[in-house]
Amino acid sequence: MLIIVQVYIVYLGSLPKGEFSPMSEHLGVLEDVLEGSSSTDSLVRSYKRSFNGFAARLTEKEREKLANKEGVVSVFPSRILKLHTTRSWDFMGFSETSRHKPALESDVIIGVFDTGIWPESPSFSDKDFGPPPRKWKGVCSGGKNFTCNKKVIGARIYNSLNDSFDVSVRDIDGHGSHTASIAAGNNVEHASFHGLAQGKARGGVPSARLAIYKVCVFLGCASADILAAFDDAIADGVDIISISLGFDSAVALEEDAIAIGAFHAMAGGILTVHSAGNEGPEVFSTFSSAPWMVSVAASTIDRKIIDRVVLGNGTELTGRSFNYFTMNGSMYPLIYGKVTSRANACNNFLSQLCVPDCLNKSAVEGKILLCESAYGDEGAHWAGAAGSIKLDVGVSSVVPLPTIALRGKDLRLVRSYYNSTKKAEAKILKSEAIKDSSAPVVAPFSSRGPNAAILEIMKPDITAPGVDILAAFSPIPKLVDGISVEYNILSGTSMACPHVAGIAAYVKSFHPAWSASAIRSALMTTARPMKVSANLHGVLSFGSGHVDPVKAISPGLVYETTKDNYTQMLCDMGYNTTMVRLISGDNSSCPKDSKGSPKDLNYPSMTVYVKQLRPFKVEFPRTVTNVGRSNSTYKAQVIIRKHPRMKVDVNPPMLSFKLIKEKKSFVVTVTGQGMTMERPVESATLVWSDGTHTVRSPITVYTDMLID
Ligand SMILES: *[C@@H]1O[C@H](CO)[C@@H](O)[C@H](O)[C@H]1NC(C)=O
Ligand SMILES: *[C@@H]1O[C@H](CO)[C@@H](O)[C@H](O)[C@H]1NC(C)=O
Ligand SMILES: *[C@@H]1O[C@H](CO)[C@@H](O)[C@H](O)[C@H]1NC(C)=O
Ligand SMILES: *[C@@H]1O[C@H](CO)[C@@H](O)[C@H](O)[C@H]1NC(C)=O
Ligand SMILES: *[C@@H]1O[C@H](CO)[C@@H](O)[C@H](O)[C@H]1NC(C)=O
Ligand SMILES: *[C@@H]1O[C@H](CO)[C@@H](O)[C@H](O)[C@H]1NC(C)=O
Ligand SMILES: *[C@@H]1O[C@H](CO)[C@@H](O)[C@H](O)[C@H]1NC(C)=O
Ligand SMILES: *[C@@H]1O[C@H](CO)[C@@H](O)[C@H](O)[C@H]1NC(C)=O
Ligand SMILES: *[C@@H]1O[C@H](CO)[C@@H](O)[C@H](O)[C@H]1NC(C)=O
Ligand SMILES: *[C@@H]1O[C@H](CO)[C@@H](O)[C@H](O)[C@H]1NC(C)=O
Repeated sequence: MLIIVQVYIVYLGSLPKGEFSPMSEHLGVLEDVLEGSSSTDSLVRSYKRSFNGFAARLTEKEREKLANKEGVVSVFPSRILKLHTTRSWDFMGFSETSRHKPALESDVIIGVFDTGIWPESPSFSDKDFGPPPRKWKGVCSGGKNFTCNKKVIGARIYNSLNDSFDVSVRDIDGHGSHTASIAAGNNVEHASFHGLAQGKARGGVPSARLAIYKVCVFLGCASADILAAFDDAIADGVDIISISLGFDSAVALEEDAIAIGAFHAMAGGILTVHSAGNEGPEVFSTFSSAPWMVSVAASTIDRKIIDRVVLGNGTELTGRSFNYFTMNGSMYPLIYGKVTSRANACNNFLSQLCVPDCLNKSAVEGKILLCESAYGDEGAHWAGAAGSIKLDVGVSSVVPLPTIALRGKDLRLVRSYYNSTKKAEAKILKSEAIKDSSAPVVAPFSSRGPNAAILEIMKPDITAPGVDILAAFSPIPKLVDGISVEYNILSGTSMACPHVAGIAAYVKSFHPAWSASAIRSALMTTARPMKVSANLHGVLSFGSGHVDPVKAISPGLVYETTKDNYTQMLCDMGYNTTMVRLISGDNSSCPKDSKGSPKDLNYPSMTVYVKQLRPFKVEFPRTVTNVGRSNSTYKAQVIIRKHPRMKVDVNPPMLSFKLIKEKKSFVVTVTGQGMTMERPVESATLVWSDGTHTVRSPITVYTDMLID
């Protein structure tokens, strides 16, 4: 019989108070269940700095025995998580003239959990930086030939996958350098990708420091390593954690390494910012679910990179792709993939998709190849084509030869043009930047809510630029024909996440004493409203709206959420006292019959699931803290569409504050006659305003919906 041995994470909750010898405790726990191997061989890693647990190699039987042991909160496989990127390009930040507090900003440390960093990139130069902040307790242990500087102040690598190829914090993928530079890269003049998207590349907080936790090696990102990185980052003294990777299917909170790590970060006053995922645009496609972290969707910016093709009959079509090639000459013969099959090599279908190896090189050479797939450029390049026309699936990509991606309708037009003449020809023009006045719009790939793990906490929380983002890269990956680049253009919620992490660090530099929940609230309640009708699945796509860095530093009021409030929410979800205590590490207990619901959590957005066709009346109790001015009065306003299917009341409708830090409570009551599956989501916005500040919260009611 084949015994599958897998790495499991054994999670034991918070650190016990007082004397504690984690290694011997962990080995002891293991001894009790192991059937063949020795505990020292089995133990992969002990977590002991910020919470209690370990990772070990176990058989299924050993795993079961462990899971039933007292004191064990959960045992779950160390899964391989995915980076939240889809290849692409461009860049955006907030105005360079925005007010910064460089001295305080340079005390802020952003922990980036990713593929490492390219420390020699100009984006990470430490010119004009002072010594690391005093609170910093981390190390620079980046492996061979990796040195930190006064900008990149810490580096650690985790490698439970035992990747022997990728052994230092040096970034051989590019993703980690990209995300780190979006959050906190220096201002770098004249950055571009082969002249496209030219401009100044800069991070949200150029004076802030970076601590790099390499949790993704070439083989992937293991949850055991992610948990280990949280353990270290919390103890090292980072202020904000940015994590642009995640699961691609639903995970229970108690098995979610990111949620568990972020809980302990929250308890330590650290805000975790997480990418919502690239599994959109279907509903229930985000697997970033914990309310103690911010989950970020990706949207467009007003600069759009487009590409054009001119057909022999004069028609010009617009598409996308990152095409920095200039085609010489006037026109190139156009040929359809389907007719270029190598005899007996592949069928027409595969050659119509331009699958490499299927094409007849001598038929294709020097021509523009028309392909019915999103990867047609690869086959075209393989076959020696002069260019390619391929299918647009929503994101631009770096291409190895002159290429344009066209939407299905336009691709069909090219096909019928090809059919209409014996001498079909075309020319693909170099990409150019145009203004996209529809921006911001949530990208199709961006994961949507609702939140399958906690139905009454809206995720994603917020949206930020994540399409065509230009930022630092690693010179190692050879994108196209051995060309390596210092700056690259990528798309994904991976790129949106560090924008928000940078802005969270920016807020922290103005309000160093604010809790993680106050910063989260400031980001969400000051977000710019997005149009429900312009974004597929409306509020489920963008949450509170588009992040607004300048407004986020003065939110007026904040919704604060304590660790106790979160544990109460866990009770409301059905976790029992034993489980909650192990997670929280304190004496909190669940009331005998917990009647609450996660909707009662003091969260800056309000969400409820209701049964189909049933009249509903739902109350959201909330408490706000005044962080604006003393002696201020806020009035409630509810923004709702015409002919709404629900009614929203706010009681009291006015809140008067005498002092800073004063708290006031109110209740939002939402009533309606019943929701239908045809229109399963209804949203409104609560706005508290004192004439200067506007404090916005989306209110969402939804019922069962079809998942396509
Ligand atoms: C260290 O890495 C840098 C960047 O790749 C490289 O230029 C340099 O040659 C390396 N030094 C050694 C001693 O390997
Ligand atoms: C880990 O990698 C090293 C070096 O590649 C190898 O010698 C060792 O056997 C591996 N260990 C496991 C448990 O896979
Ligand atoms: C066009 O001509 C320039 C200059 O002769 C050359 O560098 C470039 O590679 C040519 N482009 C293509 C696509 O052949
Ligand atoms: C490839 O195309 C050339 C020219 O169109 C043709 O002469 C040749 O027979 C084709 N080869 C195969 C293997 O189909
Ligand atoms: C192109 O012509 C072929 C053969 O005449 C026909 O089968 C096909 O449907 C045509 N395709 C388009 C897109 O017009
Ligand atoms: C070029 O051909 C396409 C496909 O037959 C057609 O739709 C388009 O109108 C033509 N353009 C011109 C300028 O004739
Ligand atoms: C949240 O926690 C605070 C203190 O930890 C408590 O005063 C407050 O009542 C809690 N709010 C809710 C809604 O449970
Ligand atoms: C708490 O919940 C866990 C998991 O559902 C269960 O195994 C355990 O028996 C429960 N403990 C108590 C005291 O009810
Ligand atoms: C929890 O409560 C028990 C008894 O009520 C007390 O002895 C213990 O010190 C408390 N622990 C903490 C961490 O407050
Ligand atoms: C707020 O109002 C009180 C009483 O009306 C007054 O004493 C106090 O000075 C005011 N504070 C500020 C900052 O205006």
